[in-house]
Amino acid sequence: MLLAIETSCDETAAAVFTNNGKLLSDIVMSQDHLHARYGGIVPEVASRRHIEVLPAVVKEALHKARADMSAVEAIAVTVEPGLMGALLVGTSFASGMARVTGARLIPVNHLEGHLHAPFVGSEPLYPFVGLVVSGGHTSLYLVRDTGEYTLLGSTRDDAAGEAFDKVGRILGISYPAGPRIDRIAKEGRHDALSFPRPMLNEDSFDFSFSGLKTAVLYAVKNGALSTHSLADIAASFQEAVVDVLVQKTLKASEQTGVDRIVISGGVAANSRLREKIQQEATSRGIEIVIPPLRLCTDNAAMIGYTAILRLRTGRIPSEFSVSPRSTFL
Ligand code: KG4
Ligand code: ZN
Repeated sequence: MLLAIETSCDETAAAVFTNNGKLLSDIVMSQDHLHARYGGIVPEVASRRHIEVLPAVVKEALHKARADMSAVEAIAVTVEPGLMGALLVGTSFASGMARVTGARLIPVNHLEGHLHAPFVGSEPLYPFVGLVVSGGHTSLYLVRDTGEYTLLGSTRDDAAGEAFDKVGRILGISYPAGPRIDRIAKEGRHDALSFPRPMLNEDSFDFSFSGLKTAVLYAVKNGALSTHSLADIAASFQEAVVDVLVQKTLKASEQTGVDRIVISGGVAANSRLREKIQQEATSRGIEIVIPPLRLCTDNAAMIGYTAILRLRTGRIPSEFSVSPRSTFL
């Protein structure tokens, strides 16, 4: 059996797989309620909470899988990228457990996990253009095979989810604002206010969302909340983010000639993003693959699944170690 552990940000998660890749259990404990009063993730609070709950989360995952530690032959753990303290809790726990039990330790990259999330429980479909869009990342990859990734572009400032959360703070919507803005925007008109689409027409796959956040701030300072409904402002902001994500991802598919797109990460839960990319892709004959909601946000099933793919292909990079790294190469 394989045990997977994920603690890179503010979810404490563990999952158990059989050796041939069947998912037996998948436990995620969210810390959202602890960070809500600060309006965003506080790294120190995240690390402390991981320390408190990780043993119980692992125990629960093993219990649900009807397994005990002696049956675990491999332990997959997220080593990068993420919050340093949070990563250290998972990697230290996994290393200690591996030492005691003799299980093999498999370091996994968190973004590689997100890219493979839609395939958990089945076979991966290569090649694809992968957009990882979450609170910490907005990155576009060309994925040719397990271990063969080319970074096409990433955000130069805020991640898309971070922009949702910061705009939420401006609009008085509590953290995490992404799902709430998504819900509120359903009642609004997405062309009510005209917000910028940063870097949309530039010849680059990089993103930038801080200017868009500032544009919302200025609109609010100029009285937008009295001239427009909250739903109209939320819908117009969301539309600007979605337009940039959709257009850049389609352009990546067009330029690489790869007609399959995977979208993963917390913001992949956004209903307008799902709807718009699906519409645009269908008319172009592009296949869209998005994980079910529970696999969009951080979880350990995607980490265990990625480790199993790596084991299967023998592609466990020797330079990978269990030392956590906050940033990706
Ligand atoms: O992947 P994730 O759980 O954690 C990491 O950041 O790694 O993503 C969380 C982010 C938060 O910024 C949250 O506001 C955003 O994803 N999010 C959404 C939606 N659901 C979650 N953003 C827009 N629309 C949603 N429905
Ligand atoms: Zn993530």
